[in-house]
Amino acid sequence: MSSITIPFPDDWHLHLRDGAMLEGVIEHSAKHFARAIIMPNLVPPVVRSSQAEAYRQRILAARPAGSEFEPLMTLYLTETTDPDDVEAAASSGLVKAVKLYPAGATTNSDSGVRDFDKVIPVLERMAEVGLPLCVHGEVTDPDIDIFDREAVFIERVLAPLRERVPGLRVVMEHITTEEGVAYVKDNAENLGATITTHHLIINRNALFVGGIRPHYFCLPIAKREKHRLALRAAATSGDARFFLGTDSAPHPTDAKENACGCAGCFTAPNTMSLLAHVFEEEAALDRLQNFASCNGPAFYRLPVNQQKMTLVKRDTAQAVAATIKTGAGDVTVFDPGFDVFWDVGV
Ligand code: DOR
Ligand code: ZN
Repeated sequence: MSSITIPFPDDWHLHLRDGAMLEGVIEHSAKHFARAIIMPNLVPPVVRSSQAEAYRQRILAARPAGSEFEPLMTLYLTETTDPDDVEAAASSGLVKAVKLYPAGATTNSDSGVRDFDKVIPVLERMAEVGLPLCVHGEVTDPDIDIFDREAVFIERVLAPLRERVPGLRVVMEHITTEEGVAYVKDNAENLGATITTHHLIINRNALFVGGIRPHYFCLPIAKREKHRLALRAAATSGDARFFLGTDSAPHPTDAKENACGCAGCFTAPNTMSLLAHVFEEEAALDRLQNFASCNGPAFYRLPVNQQKMTLVKRDTAQAVAATIKTGAGDVTVFDPGFDVFWDVGV
């Protein structure tokens, strides 16, 4: 039996939703993470600081009794976002980042950005005050193959945007390609990237093993094996620019097992035990703390959590619930497809 103790982790990219879904899923994040960057793609989206404050209050109210889980709020960038509102939300400490969705790229992204010229003033203001931009990095051009959308986004959108707004602090969210890894490594300043649990575990073949597997459908879509290996190398390297953002994205099971199934993997309940498994496979257990507990706070200029988490490798495979029940329907938990022996002792 082995065990590892790390500073308590944070999740730098999380979907908690709202209402009955929020009530049903929050305990799974609150158990294993001290803080999380909360995605603003609700319906309607969290665009203004007043909406972020109201959403924050709903999250705090939904926490299990005694939980000190801290939601770090974001604003959803639109072409009419007001730079003054963003600056006020940042300086009061309410908002820790702004999220850029190219319009049409993913779930509830219709209010996102079509014309990047329109958001330059707000991005310039963010650069001035040091507020990070979290980027969903996929082009939406239907002529671009879905497996190429991240690499093309870096070339056509992200690199020119970073040149236009020097000093803007950017997090490339949920990178899925070796091009994404390389771009972060080649650009030392003001750039970080989150990596999800599921993209360290599945490649695109998982979507089609013996039939179509809707619970492995997420955006950006999983890529070829060489990309998964590049993500594993980056995550386990200890490099401070790469940190955990689960992108845990609950949808009711019937909305995934559907003729037009939703994108998202729900990994909040088992992420930490899966990461221990992955880091052990890569002989990098000693660097799990960099990825899950230290690199994210360093990028966001926040302290590392004082509290500790102990993960224990048991002699028998750990049972994990296949689904969780919520008032908005059952949600299927991400199945890694292998036995996991790591247990979060907390
Ligand atoms: O798989 C995903 N699910 N990717 C996203 O970008 C959005 C998320 C969601 O909100 O369901
Ligand atoms: Zn997301």
